[in-house]
Amino acid sequence: MAKRILSGIKPSGDLNIGGYVGALRQFVMYQNEYDGFFFIPDLHAITVPQDPKELRERSRQIAALYIAAGCDPDKSTIFLQSQVPAHAELGWLMETQAYFGEMSRMTQFKDKSEGKDAVSTALFTYPALMAADILLYQATHVPVGEDQKQHLELTRDIANRFNNRFGQTFTVPEPVIQEVGARVMGLDDPSSKMSKSNPNTSSYVLLLDTPAVIRKKFSRAVTDSDMAVRYDWEAKPAVSNLMEIYSVFGDVTIAEVERRFEGQGYGAFKKELAEVVIAKLAPLQEKYEALIGSDELDRILKEGARKASEEAHKTLDAAKRAMGLLVY
Ligand code: TYM
Repeated sequence: MAKRILSGIKPSGDLNIGGYVGALRQFVMYQNEYDGFFFIPDLHAITVPQDPKELRERSRQIAALYIAAGCDPDKSTIFLQSQVPAHAELGWLMETQAYFGEMSRMTQFKDKSEGKDAVSTALFTYPALMAADILLYQATHVPVGEDQKQHLELTRDIANRFNNRFGQTFTVPEPVIQEVGARVMGLDDPSSKMSKSNPNTSSYVLLLDTPAVIRKKFSRAVTDSDMAVRYDWEAKPAVSNLMEIYSVFGDVTIAEVERRFEGQGYGAFKKELAEVVIAKLAPLQEKYEALIGSDELDRILKEGARKASEEAHKTLDAAKRAMGLLVY
């Protein structure tokens, strides 16, 4: 069977380097070897309140960033989730197969709903829609960061359950999680994930941050007690986190980072780290600027939705038939 990769990044905030390191760079890495489906999960974004104008802008922004980072629309299918209604439809079918108990164990739901008065039912059933996203395209591999692992396990469980009940319908997908960069932590606190929802803007670096802002954010990044640039998540989580970022953006191994900064303090390391990130982001930002105002972007998304719909309908019809729903 052909290898097929599928993944997406929610347009619920500006894209930070965590999403790039954990997910986006992997899309680019695998697109030559796999048949790629990269989508913008806008239906997932609206499980929490969104400003409509901002959501519209962010959805195009994320799509432009996919392409600017190297996703090639001639090789891969790039589209908006809401433009392919089969996602919502299979999402419902998946909800009928998912159990309340297993959904209740999802840590992301617990984190996102904690302390909130009004939590949408969609935030709770979100993993069923995510399973639909993946299973619709018979994806074999799903590149994600560590925080999505539990959702992937649930997707696998639902796929197996469905296949056992109704006959072989879905490919059971494998998560693809890189060893370095699977979980980029906040620059202010190495015990919490770098996240676009953190109110402290210095805790993350955005893909579209200017060089001056990137320098400032890294210079403020917390470090650990002694002065050595040494990789040790137990004793030195803050520096280990920065070393992983350096390793990914500088295309060098962790051992090389250690060697390069042996005998040097944090100051020199953080300065060079900022430059390595700036250098990698410069061409991406340039491509983004050229794309974001263009009709070309909308043309790519429209064509992507057409191709995705065609593919999605095959699986949706098979799933409906298998369950006893009439398909004419
Ligand atoms: P989202 O939008 O929160 O994050 C997008 C991707 O980026 C990864 N990521 C990180 N990786 C490392 N360190 C970080 N600090 C970091 N922050 C984010 C995430 O693991 C993810 O891979 N539910 C998904 C979106 C989604 C999806 C899908 C993904 C919907 N349907 C189908 C794959 C397949 C989400 O909320 O990711």
